[in-house]
Amino acid sequence: MTDIKTNTDDPNIFLVGFMGSGKSHWGKIWAKETNRNFIDLDEVIEKNVGKSIAAIFEERGEEEFRRIESAALRTCESMQDTIIASGGGTPYFYDNMQWMNEHGLTFHITVDAKEILKRVAVEQEKRPLFKNLGSDELLSFIEKKLAERLPYYSAANFTICSETATASSLTDILSSIKK
Ligand code: S3P
Repeated sequence: MTDIKTNTDDPNIFLVGFMGSGKSHWGKIWAKETNRNFIDLDEVIEKNVGKSIAAIFEERGEEEFRRIESAALRTCESMQDTIIASGGGTPYFYDNMQWMNEHGLTFHITVDAKEILKRVAVEQEKRPLFKNLGSDELLSFIEKKLAERLPYYSAANFTICSETATASSLTDILSSIKK
């Protein structure tokens, strides 16, 4: 049994991982499997600000986006029975990773740089961090960012590999810690 302390029997779940790791894809599936709600932090931000993530980056810059993101994350405290897909950068900024660990169970969905490249290259324009990079620069940029962020993602309570994940990956872990 894993000894993880939460303040409730049915804690919220935070998914962390790099862009393209499948946080939203698996989050929706696992929410159905566990009878929870699903929210995507980027969508909360877009709704609150009334602009797309790309427009917020463009008009207000990354620093302001990170401030808005961290504030939006704190609003998840009032949610119940929810799976929250954080943004790929969320754990890396402020004390967001520590906050998620203190307010729910955290799951890192792992993915390697080459797989990320395959998944994000098709919609590079929608990703502000990748926007101005040529295709030759993309892989080394992803590798660098991934290495920077890995220590933060690794602070998650559990790890699920995106390439072997299934609809029951989350429930399997949850039932193993309830035993
Ligand atoms: C970002 C990831 C994005 C979004 C923003 C910045 C990042 O979220 O928050 O574009 O810094 O990795 P997803 O991981 O949901 O795409």
